[in-house]
Amino acid sequence: MSTTITPPGIAPETTIGQLVAARPLLARLFDRLGLDYCCGGKQTLAAACAARGLDPATTLALLESATAALEAGPAEVDAAALGLAELADHIEATHHACLKDELPRLVEMADRVAAKHGWRDTRLPEVAAAMNTLAAEMLSHMRKEETVLFPLVRQIEAGAAGTFHCGGIANPIRQMEAEHEAAGQLTASLRELTDGFTPDPEACNTHRALLAGLAAFEADLRRHVHKENNILFPRALARAGGGG
Ligand SMILES: [Fe+2]
Ligand SMILES: [Fe+2]
Repeated sequence: MSTTITPPGIAPETTIGQLVAARPLLARLFDRLGLDYCCGGKQTLAAACAARGLDPATTLALLESATAALEAGPAEVDAAALGLAELADHIEATHHACLKDELPRLVEMADRVAAKHGWRDTRLPEVAAAMNTLAAEMLSHMRKEETVLFPLVRQIEAGAAGTFHCGGIANPIRQMEAEHEAAGQLTASLRELTDGFTPDPEACNTHRALLAGLAAFEADLRRHVHKENNILFPRALARAGGGG
């Protein structure tokens, strides 16, 4: 069962716990600032900033812009209008760069929530195990794209298509598509294990931040894989002169 929380205003006297309970994705910013929203969630923003030596006005401004960005949703480019190299660059600079920060954070939260609350919900250790596997697989997958496939795509666009056998790019593409499928299945199992990323009424702030982070991961994975499977890969194959 989900609980509806009216978002509190962002003010120095608002507690960190209230802010994250209402907008769990703000946990990313609190993690970056080293502000504890779980056990230290009862602290006001002003007190937490003072304890960490952070300037309250700057922290408030950061929170306001992070909230506005969350409400606006991710900025999306017209991937179909980009060239092959531009699209590979865009994927690396956005989806890959974000995931390199986000996956270790999700693993850390999943491990912490399983250790603390696994006695209450026996699916939490399964969530942590699936998250660890997913993160390891995604990090290895992106490394392969960045070191093998995307450099090939850039060479093809630069006019080196004649030097490739069609299998030269078709094989890594097939491998990447199979890995996308595996990541999609693991993400679906995380959705199932968490009742659609829905917190139960007793869920602590870290648990809520984890579920919000998983839901955001799932949405980002869809956009990321769409750009690769439906735009980048078929165009690179066509440019290389092979159908796969
Ligand atoms: Fe990718
Ligand atoms: Fe990929």
